[in-house]
Amino acid sequence: MSNNLIVGFSGNISRPSSTRRFVESVAQSLAAQTGLEQVTFDVEDLGASLASARSISDLDTAARTTIRTIVEATALVIGSPTYKGSYTGLFKHVFDLLDPADLRGKPIILTATGGGDRHSLVVEHQLRPLFAFFEAFVTPTAIYASGRDFTDGSPSPVIQSRVKQALDEAALLVGAKSISSAIAAE
Ligand SMILES: Cc1cc2nc3c(=O)[nH]c(=O)nc-3n(C[C@H](O)[C@H](O)[C@H](O)COP(=O)(O)O)c2cc1C
Repeated sequence: MSNNLIVGFSGNISRPSSTRRFVESVAQSLAAQTGLEQVTFDVEDLGASLASARSISDLDTAARTTIRTIVEATALVIGSPTYKGSYTGLFKHVFDLLDPADLRGKPIILTATGGGDRHSLVVEHQLRPLFAFFEAFVTPTAIYASGRDFTDGSPSPVIQSRVKQALDEAALLVGAKSISSAIAAE
């Protein structure tokens, strides 16, 4: 089931968040490119019930609705700040609550931010295997950006070019999925 939304989800656990801002800007660009609406959430949006939840049914109503919006997204833009060389703990907890089939075939762009360049492969060695577990359609291009890659919140030309590459790949996946859904509906 698809809600015709591009959904951004960021693993930041405090605000303001450079990760959330970056995820939202990529999600907005993908929405513009695919002619869809976008909405972006972060771990903070899931509220207090997240940390103690052991299953989706333990979440409060607002958090459950947010999770449903993520699961039903036409495509996702995912991001996390790098914490100790990986995504944040609560980011992983969100995905631990999902059914293994919930993201199968979902077009996804992966992003991460960090304090420096030392952990730039976090997108490849931490995020990509998680979404491979879910059998998602992750774009070949993932984007890592450190604080040095932003000036007044705007990404550098190098990051912008990586983003464009990932957007083109994601738009292809979204287009291919909509064609195959139309054929299946005939
Ligand atoms: C607990 C903690 C652990 C961190 N670990 C790393 C790390 O291993 N590698 C890194 O490059 N940055 C690390 N950072 C820096 C954050 O990844 C970086 O500041 C990030 O861009 C913050 O994103 P935000 O503004 O969305 O919170 C860490 C920050 C915190 C608070």
